[in-house]
Amino acid sequence: MHHIEVVSQLEGPHLAQLPELVDAATRADGHEPIGEHKFLRLKRGGDLGVAVLAFEERRLAGYAHTLTFGEGDGRRVSCEFVVHPDLRRRGVGRMLLSHALMHAVSQGAARIDAWAYNDAPASAHLAAQFGFAPARRLYHLHRHAGAQADAPDGPPAPAPSGARPTGPLGLRPFRPGEDDGRWLALNNRIFASHPENGAWTLDDLRARMAQPWFAPRDFLLLEAEGRLAGFCWVKVDERGDDGRVGEIYVIGVAPEQRGRGFARFLLTTALGHMATRGARTAAVYVDATNAPALALYEAAGFHRHHVDICYTRDLRVAGHGTAGPARPDEAQAAA
Ligand SMILES: CC(C)(COP(=O)(O)OP(=O)(O)OC[C@H]1O[C@@H](n2cnc3c(N)ncnc32)[C@H](O)[C@@H]1OP(=O)(O)O)[C@@H](O)C(=O)NCCC(=O)NCCS
Repeated sequence: MHHIEVVSQLEGPHLAQLPELVDAATRADGHEPIGEHKFLRLKRGGDLGVAVLAFEERRLAGYAHTLTFGEGDGRRVSCEFVVHPDLRRRGVGRMLLSHALMHAVSQGAARIDAWAYNDAPASAHLAAQFGFAPARRLYHLHRHAGAQADAPDGPPAPAPSGARPTGPLGLRPFRPGEDDGRWLALNNRIFASHPENGAWTLDDLRARMAQPWFAPRDFLLLEAEGRLAGFCWVKVDERGDDGRVGEIYVIGVAPEQRGRGFARFLLTTALGHMATRGARTAAVYVDATNAPALALYEAAGFHRHHVDICYTRDLRVAGHGTAGPARPDEAQAAA
């Protein structure tokens, strides 16, 4: 027997069983089921987000969370969800997705996106049942950590030559409190057209800096001619069977500084740095349409490990959403 709780802030009782659910799913599926961004926002509360918790008796059987982006016609809801590996094929996933859909409709969203990590037949099937279609692909790329593809312990990359004639080039760790404002301004400029990464606030940055994995020495800022020109933020953490992984959490170069070798320099330096931090594997997530970044990583020896798929459903289409509301029984009818 299931019961559902929908909350706009995750607090003690909700969080009690969540780590066990996430760990069990990560072990069973080989990847984390939910992303950090929505989760941190829900812990903070006050955003347009909800968490949906499905209980079987008192046990947490499944979890979904949503975040609402944009306004008016452009308003969309993005969601992620996970069902405990011991409790799959019992309708929990359908129930979670139904509630996420109802929430999106109640928000007046034009669209709902659902992320399927390491796209599996179960996600593809459920997505199709609910009228979702694949929209975005996110590649997970891996390689070994180390300064160079063919020589992990080799010397660091030379500084990009393009910077030398016009002035000094500086690479240094991020200084929390001091660099926050200008880093945010550059990040939001670099990712201006990105659906999630281009509207970071100080609270978003502070929430990351409060994470156990955060270390300023892993967050490299590149200055050229006295101005912030780019950055490479590395996240080093333990990931089950993969051991210690160094993730290129975010890398970016100011639009006016591109094509000077800065990203290659940052990436090579970061790969060497993560090796000194004990990471054996380097990982990065990149949108399948981001040709410059894919070329950068492939040239540095990264290969495709797996793909996440973002499924989307238009809620303005008659019979799907606002014109024909999503109901918990909708999935049963579709099944
Ligand atoms: C991707 C990005 C970091 C590249 O920065 P950059 O400083 O211009 O890159 P570099 O000059 O160091 O180029 C290094 C390599 O990247 C690839 N590359 C860079 N720009 C490219 C472009 N416009 N088209 C194709 N490949 C490109 C090439 O392989 C290049 O090597 P090459 O010059 O020998 O061909 C930059 O475009 C950026 O900040 N984009 C927005 C943020 C982003 O998408 N980050 C990655 C998220 S996963």
